[in-house]
Amino acid sequence: MKLRRSTTAGIVAAAVLGLAGIVPAVATLKPADRPADQSLKALGMRHGLYIGTAVDTDALVDESDPTYRTKVASEFSTVTAENVMKWSELEPTRGTYNWEPADRLIAFAQKNRQQVRGHVLVWHNQLPEWLTEGVADGSIDKEELRALLKNHITNVVTHFRGKIWQWDVVNEAVTDPWATSDGVITYKGFWAENLGPDYIADAFRWARAADRKALLFYNDYNIDAFGDEGPSDKTFFVYKMVKDLKAKGVPIDGVGSQGHLATQYGNYDALQAAAALQRFSSLGLATALTEVDARSQLTEQVKAGNSAEINPRDQASAYNYSVLMQACLADRHCLSYTVWGFTDKHSWVSYTDLGDGKGNEGMATLLDENYQPKKAYNTLKADLAFAGGPLVQPRVPQRANPGRG
Ligand code: XIL
Repeated sequence: MKLRRSTTAGIVAAAVLGLAGIVPAVATLKPADRPADQSLKALGMRHGLYIGTAVDTDALVDESDPTYRTKVASEFSTVTAENVMKWSELEPTRGTYNWEPADRLIAFAQKNRQQVRGHVLVWHNQLPEWLTEGVADGSIDKEELRALLKNHITNVVTHFRGKIWQWDVVNEAVTDPWATSDGVITYKGFWAENLGPDYIADAFRWARAADRKALLFYNDYNIDAFGDEGPSDKTFFVYKMVKDLKAKGVPIDGVGSQGHLATQYGNYDALQAAAALQRFSSLGLATALTEVDARSQLTEQVKAGNSAEINPRDQASAYNYSVLMQACLADRHCLSYTVWGFTDKHSWVSYTDLGDGKGNEGMATLLDENYQPKKAYNTLKADLAFAGGPLVQPRVPQRANPGRG
């Protein structure tokens, strides 16, 4: 109501001034107000939006690289452990937990008044060998496996209780259209194979039992936009899955869209990505961009420094970051926008073989290897600075779903 009145008043005032030929005085921006001089987190707070990064906890304590931790502290309002909250890292030996690196990250976040996204409770990757080998050799049966999962979730969520804003409870539980011969999306991976898909609802219930307040997320990639809503539409499959979980009273609070993009693909535009987030949040769920990066293929020309090949990659990367930021801004329930590393000096893209050959992809983050801003960094700032009502409104806080049944 208020908004409509002041907007109308503004239009009327502008029209009157226009008729009279008077140019309205624009308040001069103080230098400190210029977007270029502000951090990502400060610009995000204009919208109540948290801006985050995955953190490499080794780099965080590297004496020879103080810029890394300075940037984590100054640019971001939420952090995610890139690896140290994964099961293989937390419990490398059965029954012996190594909390230290994750606790260190949380202490850092608290010191810098940052929120923490917990990543990850249930995933088929980075599981400890004692667990996967035990299942493979039959020494851990299904009943014990289910008990181990419950125990793991309970221990981890309890350890970090009160310190985690959003938990990625279940990560990457479903297939991609290209991964099966018929392209039909289904459940995938170690947990579905051994326990059946009901482990998903169980995991959310166990997490909620250990922490009444943390927001509990389902997290996945390639759910940036809806397709034809047929059997090969991964986003639609996830949509139906979370809708069903909600309907059953499972305590799920949000959907995390990872946002790992690559400039060699067509990808999506901001309207498509906004529509997807809005459709998830229309179920009463929060949304978040949880692992954004936008990589490129490193051809010989790129490696040789040919700007004719480097520039279009930087521009396309910036565009992809922007698409997801605009989508997040458009959805009032999109609570945070987290990048998966902020410098090419510490980016999983450069050391992970994702099918394109090790070392042949890179340039995926906001800052180059020397922490210099790329187009993507300034583009995100511009998106945050030059957005506002009526189409971009402050965030709507999410209340933790207690679940039922
Ligand atoms: C990645 C890390 O960035 C790497 O350091 C590690 O070697 C493998 O995992 N989806 C996820 C993240 O949910 O946990 C993954 O992180 C990237 C893909």
